Amino acid sequence: MVVAQISDPHIAAPGSKMDQACRTSHHLERAVQHLNALEPRPTVALVTGDLTDRGEIEEYERLRPMLDRLAMPTYLIPGNHDDRDNLRQVFEHHPYLAGDGGFLQYTVEDWPVRLVALDTLVPGRGRGLLCPRRLAWLDARLHEAPERPTLIFMHHPPFATGLVYMDGMGLDGIDALAAIVRRHPQVERIVAGHVHRPIVRRFAGTVACTCPSTAHQVALDLPPETRLAVTMEPPACLLHVWLGDEQGLVTHVSQIEAHPVHTVVPPARA
Ligand SMILES: [Fe+2]
Ligand SMILES: [Fe+2]
Repeated sequence: MVVAQISDPHIAAPGSKMDQACRTSHHLERAVQHLNALEPRPTVALVTGDLTDRGEIEEYERLRPMLDRLAMPTYLIPGNHDDRDNLRQVFEHHPYLAGDGGFLQYTVEDWPVRLVALDTLVPGRGRGLLCPRRLAWLDARLHEAPERPTLIFMHHPPFATGLVYMDGMGLDGIDALAAIVRRHPQVERIVAGHVHRPIVRRFAGTVACTCPSTAHQVALDLPPETRLAVTMEPPACLLHVWLGDEQGLVTHVSQIEAHPVHTVVPPARA
């Protein structure tokens, strides 16, 4: 089982500032082609939010045919730039987005690794939140299947990154999340987006990591003062590969660049 993760495509209206500056639609098309061309083809794809730049219907309508071209089942969650109602309306062919009491939270039970989607969106805010209702839902879902290896996916990462500007748009409810995850050792990984960089941290007895954006990255810039720099360094996706009960879940970074595929032949021994 290979779980591909792409994040933060930030699809914007044609001609908008984001569209022109970062060419986000062009970059998502490349990411889709990249996932479809991987061998073996990923079992399932996760798109972890900031699906659009402004949460507008027009942007979701632009996004829909691009994601429809993914050749594997695909699951979406919203980020802080998204709008739940507009997402649901345009992606009505994704019935799991009906969610739980307004939140876009759900589980996917079809493969050896159970997938649990969490919704960290607070409308109109950059920061994310896991409120008691969302966390009670998570705890109940994790109680259902204590023996099944589980991957939780959400938009905001549950840790500070050292990128001061992005940490100012972090997640509230982390301590309560940690208390739940600690009680459920079947959680193999928590994967997120939002910070537009690959970052890894130990978290509550499991491993948490973030995924690069399919388009613009947040510069690796670690000064103590708050500033945001965006860079067009090569985009990438994550491949979470389940190697079985013995070997567990490993996470690879896969660059979305047009590399020529070649085999490196070791030099003959002297
Ligand atoms: Fe983003
Ligand atoms: Fe975000």
